[in-house]
Amino acid sequence: MNNKDYSTKISERMWNQPDKGELEAEREKTFIDDIVQKDFIEKELLANLDGIETVFDGGAGCGRFSILLAKKGLKVTHFDISLPMIDKAKEIAAKEGVLDNITFVQGALEDLSAYEDKSFDLVMSFDSPISYTYPNQEKTISELVRIARKRIIISVSSRMGALPYASNPIQKNQFILDKDSKDGWVQWCISNREKAIADFSFSKESVMKTYETGLFGDIEESKKAYDNGEAPWSISYHFMPDELKGILEKNGVKNIQFAGPGAFARTIPNEILVKIMNDPTQRRDFLDFCHIYDSNPYVCGMGKDNLFAKGEI
Ligand SMILES: C[S@@+](CC[C@H](N)C(=O)[O-])C[C@H]1O[C@@H](n2cnc3c(N)ncnc32)[C@H](O)[C@@H]1O
Repeated sequence: MNNKDYSTKISERMWNQPDKGELEAEREKTFIDDIVQKDFIEKELLANLDGIETVFDGGAGCGRFSILLAKKGLKVTHFDISLPMIDKAKEIAAKEGVLDNITFVQGALEDLSAYEDKSFDLVMSFDSPISYTYPNQEKTISELVRIARKRIIISVSSRMGALPYASNPIQKNQFILDKDSKDGWVQWCISNREKAIADFSFSKESVMKTYETGLFGDIEESKKAYDNGEAPWSISYHFMPDELKGILEKNGVKNIQFAGPGAFARTIPNEILVKIMNDPTQRRDFLDFCHIYDSNPYVCGMGKDNLFAKGEI
């Protein structure tokens, strides 16, 4: 089996776990960094809908953004590798009354040959589906550009943004909104905090490996785990900003703009973030300012863990 098959199948198996849709649908209610990132992408989408009637959402998950645009009256193709994610998205779309505006397609981003050139006004893909197609991430981007007519908006795993996580096993604790939340991940972060600190030691070798290759973890280990019937964390390729810019430019994308959603929030301690988020006025102003700060090209690699890019075809 070659790398491509492993990468696709590992993704499939991981995202097909039955609770994935439910967990992903709740994510932005539990962690402040997810709230900031979602708000950023929503603002960008809503500001870039001029001339857009048809949309392709690649790796659309439980529909955070496909459903938002369907509610705006756009015709959206919701494309994802995982049936549980698609089922969850269908359930939410039905509740929102927008099933008629969405076509659900199960498929792998590695193969978009079913779509003709310029099939969709807007092509989008958020929160790293492109990164999960490693080692085919460049081809996936060029295929996404090929099927776009007017605009492309994506967010991929960010090498500069994610690397500090490798040196901070308790980074997610900073973003817990409600310490009493029943969410399993929140409670795990809290109960595991002291052990995570005690067990941690900084490894220059490990961070240098990711800095140089863009890959966390060990591909060979992932393959072994897959062979043993486990669902390892997908292999995910982390981009550098210049690298992503080069790939987009090579494929003819113009007016490329980058951002690092989450860059401002990651500088603020938990107690202050929670205070801000629990006051509706401060929360709205904070999210608005995050959008301005995080859009500054000087912080574009340093968002939460995503590198955001948009451009015109
Ligand atoms: C982190 S979720 C993001 C979902 C959605 N874009 C959002 O922002 O809410 C990643 C999604 O990518 C999908 N995915 C992963 N690898 C994929 C592939 N090779 N082809 C299509 N979808 C894929 C997963 O099933 C999952 O729904």
